[in-house]
Parts: sequence; structure tokens; C-alpha cells
Amino acid sequence: MSSPDAGYRPGPVVITGASSGIGYALACEYADPGRPVLLLGRSEVSLARLAEILRGLGACPEVGIADVRDAEALDSLASSFASRHGPVSVLVASAGISHGTLTGEKEDRSVFADILTTNVLGMQISFSAFLPYMQDGGRVAGIASVAGFRGLPGAAAYSASKAAVICYLESLRLELLPKNIRVTCIAPGYIATPMTAENAYPMPWLMPADRAARRMRRAIDLGHPWLVVPWQMAIAGWILKHLPRRIYDRILTRVGTKARKISAE
Ligand SMILES: NC(=O)c1ccc[n+]([C@@H]2O[C@H](COP(=O)([O-])OP(=O)(O)OC[C@H]3O[C@@H](n4cnc5c(N)ncnc54)[C@H](OP(=O)(O)O)[C@@H]3O)[C@@H](O)[C@H]2O)c1
Repeated sequence: MSSPDAGYRPGPVVITGASSGIGYALACEYADPGRPVLLLGRSEVSLARLAEILRGLGACPEVGIADVRDAEALDSLASSFASRHGPVSVLVASAGISHGTLTGEKEDRSVFADILTTNVLGMQISFSAFLPYMQDGGRVAGIASVAGFRGLPGAAAYSASKAAVICYLESLRLELLPKNIRVTCIAPGYIATPMTAENAYPMPWLMPADRAARRMRRAIDLGHPWLVVPWQMAIAGWILKHLPRRIYDRILTRVGTKARKISAE
């Protein structure tokens, strides 16, 4: 196995969506002794509990309460964190939401907006807040989804948001290459988290979040541009992506769909 390049020095870590699921598991994965880890999210209680766990592992966690749509709050957290701990070595955007949506249902308009704003703009806002403080050789990662490979029925907003994230991260990767910052786009299949716990349909190759986080950390540290977890989903996703529309339509109109969020927040 290859090792991280010479430019990368393990240092301060920033994770959005750290209060739950994949972000939480990644925070535990990055809890190296003495390592500052900024845990971002809105759920103060969950983040405080996670900080206790990380402290027990020897890391130096800090909690930052912010909505990823709030640029001012993130800018202020970023400058404060970097001024105390120095340049950020790993920046991960995991915050995201997922609900079923139907375009013909007017009450889903605001849910469409919430999903796109949180998943796409929230990631851009988080990165733009912390990028000025990244170390030379730093790592940036965003959590996309296999759902962004092609449009899924009943999840148009989520699929569109993750397709946008995949493209956005590709642009960002090219923009940051000359600055010696590596960008990793992570496209999970099904990972066992509160987000998938509510799904009432079969989820093939459902993977525990801690195992997924181990793979993710490895890819991020090595600066890999692309990761699909679990590996079986990389194959299934590739096949689905390349199926002729006639066959894709026949298969996808038979699968279960995510529950709609009946009323917007
Ligand atoms: N689980 C899967 O199978 C799967 C598959 C593909 C992709 N993903 C993606 O992986 C990421 C993490 O998902 P998960 O499964 O870990 O879900 P989760 O357990 O529901 O966690 C979502 C996290 O996002 C944060 N968040 C949501 N909206 C936010 C906002 N406006 N501002 C700040 N934080 C916000 C939540 O924190 P607070 O509530 O504290 O704000 C929470 O920490 C998401 O981007 C998701 O789309 C997940």
C-alpha cells in the first residue's frame, strides 16, 4: 500500500456533520493522541458527548455549533480554530440531509430547497470558510453518494444534490491541485447511520459506519481522488450508471423509495 505523500503532515482536523453517522465515525477515526479535532454540527448535546469520547482517546476535540448554511458562523469558527491550532490538515464535509421528494407535490418545494441548500451550498460554504487556513499538503473530502450517479425515483432532490456534489468536488480537486491540496470525493452506498435507519426497503451491502470511516480515512490521508464504499457498491453503481435507459427504467421503477418529509422544517 502507498503512504501519504511528503507534503501531508497529520495536524488539526475539521469535520462537519460530526454529531451523527459518518461524520461521527470519522471523528472517532481521526482521534489520534494530541490531535485537535473540530467537531461541527447543530446538536450541542451529541457533539459534547462525542468530545468526551475523543478526549478519552487522547485527542483534543473542540465543539463548534453552526448550521452549514451560515457562512458568518463558519468563518468565525474557522479563524478562531486556526489561530489557536495552526493550519488545518484535514477538512471533511459530511453534513447532509436526505428525504424522499416528489416534484408534483407543492409541499415538497421547500424540502427540495433544504436538501440542495444543505448538501451542495452547505459544503461549499464550509470549504470556503476553512480553505484559507489549510496547510500545504492538506486534505479536503466531501461526502457525495452513489445516489448521485443517476437519477433515483422518489429522491430527485437528493440525487440532484449528490450529482452536483460529485461535479463540484471534481472542479475543486482541479482548482486545489496547484496549491498542493488533495480533494477526495467519497460516494458511499448504504452505511448504517440514523439517515438509513428509517429506510423501509432492502439496503444491499449495508456497512457499519466505523468500518466505512476506516476506509474513508485511508483514502483521504492518501489523497485519493475518488472512493466508493463498500466496494460491492462501486461495481453495482458502475453497472447502473452504464445501463441503457430502457433497462434502467425497468429496474428502477421497481425499487423502494425514501419516505417523504410531509411538512418542511
Ligand atoms: N448513510 C448513508 O448510507 C449515506 C450514503 C451516501 C451518502 N451519505 C451522505 O453522508 C453524509 C452523512 O450522512 P449520515 O448517514 O451520517 O447522516 P446522519 O447520521 O443523519 O448525519 C447527518 C449529519 O449532518 C448534519 N447536518 C445536517 N444538516 C445540517 C446543517 N444544516 N448544518 C449543520 N449540520 C447539519 C447533522 O448534524 P446536526 O443535526 O447536529 O446539525 C448530522 O451530524 C450526508 O452528506 C449523506 O448524504 C450517507
